[in-house]
Amino acid sequence: MKYLILPVLFILCFITVLPAAADQDVFPVDREFYPYYPSLFKWEKSGAVFTEPQTCADCHDKQYKEWSGSVHSLALRDPVYQGELNKAVKAAGHDIGRQCEGCHSPAAMMNGELKKPGLAGLSSLALAGVSCDVCHSVSGTTHTRTPMKVPENGSLILNPGYDGKDGAQLVKRGSLKPDTECGGGFHECIESPLHDQADLCAGCHQVYHYDKHFPIESTYNEWKQSPYAQKGIQCQDCHMVETETFLKSSTDFRKPERSDYRHYFSGVNYLLAYLSAQSATRGGDKEQAARSMQQYDMAIKRLQSAAGLEIVPLYSDGELRELKIKVSNLRAGHNLPTSLTNIRQMWLEITAKDQNGKVVMSSGSLETDGSLSPETRVFNSDGMGSNFHFAADPWVITAFSRHETIPPRGFKEVYYGVGNLKKTKYLTVEVKLRYRTADQRVAEALLAAVPKDIDLAKEYGLNSVPQLPVVDMVSTQLKVPVRNKK
Ligand code: HEC
Ligand code: HEC
Ligand code: HEC
Ligand code: HEC
Ligand code: HEC
Repeated sequence: MKYLILPVLFILCFITVLPAAADQDVFPVDREFYPYYPSLFKWEKSGAVFTEPQTCADCHDKQYKEWSGSVHSLALRDPVYQGELNKAVKAAGHDIGRQCEGCHSPAAMMNGELKKPGLAGLSSLALAGVSCDVCHSVSGTTHTRTPMKVPENGSLILNPGYDGKDGAQLVKRGSLKPDTECGGGFHECIESPLHDQADLCAGCHQVYHYDKHFPIESTYNEWKQSPYAQKGIQCQDCHMVETETFLKSSTDFRKPERSDYRHYFSGVNYLLAYLSAQSATRGGDKEQAARSMQQYDMAIKRLQSAAGLEIVPLYSDGELRELKIKVSNLRAGHNLPTSLTNIRQMWLEITAKDQNGKVVMSSGSLETDGSLSPETRVFNSDGMGSNFHFAADPWVITAFSRHETIPPRGFKEVYYGVGNLKKTKYLTVEVKLRYRTADQRVAEALLAAVPKDIDLAKEYGLNSVPQLPVVDMVSTQLKVPVRNKK
């Protein structure tokens, strides 16, 4: 008996000790310091509460109009976000919701208004997503105190005001030196150099796995390691300006003038801009529909200025063997694409025709069901879970098995073999760099998962998910001789 018990005890020890060791935080979290974990937002509380954007609009109409229709103003209402949030909460439990809501509607996450996915009964502050008072209450960051000691999952401190002698006093922060009139009696002003820095955006534009702290979206890190950061071109200099100004900051590293800044936060999400224009039209708000379509145009223009393409024929023994396609990131201050690199799709479509117009080689055309054939060269990433199997959902992804995005001012080269061209004199090669915000099936799955209180047909006129629009970012053509005898 004695001899049996010892080994059993020995095994029991392992059974109890091993899982405990595996559960230990590898990157420890100070949960007292971060009360909303897995969101890393902090709120310096007082009687001064958060203000809805409609109130700021009374005195800042210009900024309000620019912001409304921006992706920030739609961050909570975005049906694609709501679909993914619903899936996240079902799969990983209610707590993960705070991580998502922290960045998609921080004020309402912290004041406890957001209890579940969906929009029913929410205040206009909650619905406003990344609203005025989110950014203009930022009093500091905790970027170096996070589990990874870098900006992550909302590492910003919000302080909308303080308890004064005569009650709550609002304070708004911006990059200007305030004069005595600043705030019009409604708020005090504090000059904040942080508002001119990428560090303001960093907290939300670095999305980490909620618990394993793996960087799933790293726009800020990519920027920080770029020539733009070295030359002082911040996120604001490309994303808070008109398209013309963005072209100057990105091409010549030229800093915009003070008066050039706008609240568009224009990015690439033309799909969301289009849906929000539909929704505004259906609600009878023509002005808002026009602003959303302006956002749509800006997104397309930005995409169409981001990249360059070059076709280089490669010969061996005087015979054409391969076509090299060079894809350059010309104007994105971070990788191209960035952020949701496992969802966004940017790919090469190539066709080579002989002198009779017959296609002798092609790759990257869309199938009739909207899918891309597996051999297509896509510049994106594949996530994997802790079991090292493919994963697409952010609560599962703890590593990348592949990451093929293009660094700022960098390039990638892709090679295509051309096979036997004995009877061919020359090839006409056409190449396009194409973009869509998501794979067809991914979009269908997310929109199918939206919470019950969002009626896609009523809100957006969507009875089914149509084929997702594709944008041609850049295209080029070259006539290539098949023989190159010198
Ligand atoms: C650290 C801040 C942060 C956290 C945490 C976060 N997001 Fe996001 N999310 C973003 C940013 C920034 C974007 C925009 C990136 C882009 O457009 O490429 C985004 C975009 C998205 C999109 C794409 C929307 C579209 O229209 O294409 C979805 C879906 C989404 N988030 C869902 C979630 C869910 C679900 C969670 C929680 C599991 C979550 N996010 C947590 C910041 C965050
Ligand atoms: C994502 C963060 C963010 C949001 C959301 C935001 N702002 Fe700003 N705002 C900024 C930054 C950054 C600046 C400084 C830009 C610059 O350098 O002039 C700024 C500048 C300002 C200024 C100073 C004048 C100017 O335009 O440069 C005012 C006023 C202002 N914002 C009001 C608002 C209002 C009102 C809203 C909501 C409708 C809003 N902001 C939403 C980040 C934001
Ligand atoms: C009663 C009018 C009034 C309201 C309401 C108001 N502001 Fe202001 N605010 C002003 C005035 C006046 C200035 C001075 C500069 C100017 O005219 O833009 C100012 C300046 C600012 C600045 C620039 C500060 C700087 O130093 O860069 C920011 C940022 C700002 N307000 C944000 C907000 C936000 C956010 C809200 C809503 C929560 C808001 N304001 C509501 C009147 C108002
Ligand atoms: C030199 C100009 C430039 C700078 C600086 C810059 N961006 Fe961009 N950004 C672009 C361009 C061009 C695109 C469109 C191509 C792409 O998606 O990469 C873009 C796209 C984006 C997108 C949309 C990505 C998607 O797939 O939905 C986000 C989010 C974004 N930028 C955030 C940022 C943040 C945050 C910073 C600062 C850390 C920043 N950008 C700095 C030019 C810039
Ligand atoms: C409170 C968190 C937060 C802050 C701070 C923030 N963002 Fe964002 N941003 C988001 C979220 C969330 C989204 C995506 C919303 C969605 O797609 O549903 C987004 C989207 C964007 C997009 C549009 C991306 C696209 O696909 O079109 C741009 C551009 C952008 N942010 C730039 C900035 C810049 C520049 C700053 C700093 C001045 C900044 N953001 C600060 C949360 C934030």
